[in-house]
Amino acid sequence: MQKQQANITDKIIAEISELLANEKSYQHVLSSMCTPPKDIIRTIAGLFAEINLGDPGLFPKAVEMEQDVLAELASLLNAPQGWVGTITSGGSESNLLGCWAARHWARKKKKIQKGTILLPLSAHVSFEKARDILDVKAKWIGLDEHFQMDITRVQEAITKDTFGIVGIAGTTGTGVCDNIKALSDLAEDHELFLHVDAAHGGTIFPFLSELGLSAPSFAFENPGVKSIGVDTHKMMGGLIPGGSIIFREKTYTEAIAKNISYLSDSSTQQLTVTGTRPGNSVIASWVLLKKLGREYMLERVRSCMENTAYFVHQLEQLEEIKLPFQPTINIIGFRCTSIANEELAMNLRKKGWALSIYDQWLRIVVMPHVSKETIDLFVADLKKSIQGER
Ligand SMILES: Cc1ncc(COP(=O)(O)O)c(C=O)c1O
Repeated sequence: MQKQQANITDKIIAEISELLANEKSYQHVLSSMCTPPKDIIRTIAGLFAEINLGDPGLFPKAVEMEQDVLAELASLLNAPQGWVGTITSGGSESNLLGCWAARHWARKKKKIQKGTILLPLSAHVSFEKARDILDVKAKWIGLDEHFQMDITRVQEAITKDTFGIVGIAGTTGTGVCDNIKALSDLAEDHELFLHVDAAHGGTIFPFLSELGLSAPSFAFENPGVKSIGVDTHKMMGGLIPGGSIIFREKTYTEAIAKNISYLSDSSTQQLTVTGTRPGNSVIASWVLLKKLGREYMLERVRSCMENTAYFVHQLEQLEEIKLPFQPTINIIGFRCTSIANEELAMNLRKKGWALSIYDQWLRIVVMPHVSKETIDLFVADLKKSIQGER
C-alpha cells in the first residue's frame, strides 16, 4: 500500500516537473528580488504546511515563533519598546497597512478625511494600489541627483491637506535609500505620518557598517518614522510569501486590528489584510533569524555586495556600457550607447537571461544565486549583443 502511494507521488511529481520544465531556472534570473531557498527551508515548507497563523488559537507555539521573528526584525530596525507588528504576505501588503494606519491616524488626529500622502517617484507600484484601495490622494515627488526623494520638493509640497510621507529604504529601481532622517524631521515639524518601505533594503542596510560599507540611517532611530515594512522573502531567503510591518506604537494599528469572533480563540486580533496566513513561511524566517542568525545574514549581504562590485567592474570594462548610478546595494543599472534598451534587453532575453528595463536603464538585482560564474556568462553574452550578434 505504502509502495503504491510512493509510486503515485513519484508519478505526480514527475508530471509536474515536466509541466514546469521550461520555467525559468534562477540560474539566469537577474531581475528578481527573490532567490531559491536553502534546503532546510524547502523541508520546512513541506513539514509545516498546515499551520495557519490566521487561527492563532490552534497554533499557539507558532504564534510565539511569529513574535520571535518580529522581535528580531524590530531589533534590526531599532524599534523602541512598545512596538507592535505582524508578518504579512509581502511588501505590497505591508505598504497598504502602513498607508491605512496613516490614513486613520490623520482622520483622528488631524481631522483630515481624504488627505494627500507624499511619495517619491521611485515608490513601488503597491502605493498606487494603496491609494486606490484607501481612496486617498497621492502626490509623487521628483528625485534629486542622487535618485533620492528631493527634500526641497517635499517641503514645498506639504500643505494642510498632507497627512503622510513615504520614504523608501532600497528602491526597486536603484536600491537607493531616501534621506529618511530629513523626511523624519519634516514629518516631526509638520505632524505627518512617515512610513518607510524597506521591503528590500531592510535586510541589507543593517549589515553594511559591519562590512565596512556606508550604511544609511533608515529606521526607528528617526522619531518621525511610524511604521516600516521589511520582506522576509527577498534578501533573507525566506519562503514566499513573507513580509512584515512593524509599528512604533500599538496606537497606530487601531484601525487595522480586527477581532475575529468565530476563530478557536475569540480574542484573536488580526493586523493583516489576509486572514489565513502560512505558518511555514514564519517558521522558515524563525530558522533563518534565530538559528542561522546574524552570521548567515552578514555572509549573504557580504557575498552579494562583493558580487555586485565584481559585476560593476566587468561592466565598466565595456566602452559602450554606461552606469547611471554607482550601486549602493545589490541593484545595478546600465545602458548601452549603441543599442536602445528595449533591443538590448530583447537580445539578452533571447539568450535566456531574465532582466528588467527600469526607467532609462536595464536593471539587475545581484541576489545570492547570481554567482561570479553567472556574471561572466552574462557579460560574455552582453559583449556579443553589443557586437550585433543575435
Ligand atoms: C521597494 C519595494 N517595495 C515593495 C515591493 C513589493 O513587494 P511584494 O512583491 O512582496 O509585494 C517591492 C517588490 O519588488 C519593492 O521592490
